[in-house]
Amino acid sequence: VTAAGPATRPPLPQGKAKQVFVQTLFDRIAPRYALVNKVMTLGLDMKWRRKAIRLLGLAPGSVVVDLACGPGEMAGLLNAGGIRAAGFDLSAPMLVAARHRLPLAQADAALLPVAPGALDGAVSAFALRNFADLPAVLDECARAIRPGGRLSFLDVGQPANPVVRVVGNFFLNVVAPVVGGIVSDPEAYRYLPRSVAYLPPPAELVRMLDQAGFTNARHHPVSGGIVQVFTATRSATAPGSAGASR
Ligand SMILES: C[S@@+](CC[C@H](N)C(=O)[O-])C[C@H]1O[C@@H](n2cnc3c(N)ncnc32)[C@H](O)[C@@H]1O
Repeated sequence: VTAAGPATRPPLPQGKAKQVFVQTLFDRIAPRYALVNKVMTLGLDMKWRRKAIRLLGLAPGSVVVDLACGPGEMAGLLNAGGIRAAGFDLSAPMLVAARHRLPLAQADAALLPVAPGALDGAVSAFALRNFADLPAVLDECARAIRPGGRLSFLDVGQPANPVVRVVGNFFLNVVAPVVGGIVSDPEAYRYLPRSVAYLPPPAELVRMLDQAGFTNARHHPVSGGIVQVFTATRSATAPGSAGASR
């Protein structure tokens, strides 16, 4: 509280301002991003990433992109499983931080440099809430993934069980800002818990996937719902629009 009244936090940015904010933030924290992830999730992030890839359910040899790939950890795990993986991210410093030599390129997930139907699948991890225009990203996935192809998106969740929710929120609201603030950048890691507010509720995201041109859209709570995975299959018919009823 200040003399001017209770301290208020600035509203979360939206639209183009959000995209610029997110890109600048990840450019800044890129060098230590993967390290902070490992410390603040106690290494569980790799287990969650593997789960999302299992739920993708595609065979070795499939062509899959890691959207908003950061240092490309999902791409690395896909490649280790025999999948032909590439990654795209807005932030060039995030791509530079990769510890493998898979093809990674700077691109907006809402404007992918791939031909229609060229992909067997797409994955993303901890990126849904960072997209400035999530419906546009889902529409772009429907364009780029072939009919029958798959997507699997991992992000943080809201556990239904109150005890698990307290534990999950402790890591998100306390551990992440403290660890991130010490090892990396305090402002960036204060944004992390706030960014959860961007995530649509699971039923809404499932509806958006349906509207974008996917079938069989499913929500999978993982680790008691601390994280969640959304999977879907590209429908055989022409894509719709995830933002149609916005
Ligand atoms: C929390 S990081 C996740 C990185 C990586 N997927 C992982 O699992 O560690 C979010 C990433 O989303 C990227 N990003 C945000 N909006 C994007 C967009 N429209 N297109 C591509 N990348 C985007 C950011 O640059 C950042 O690298």
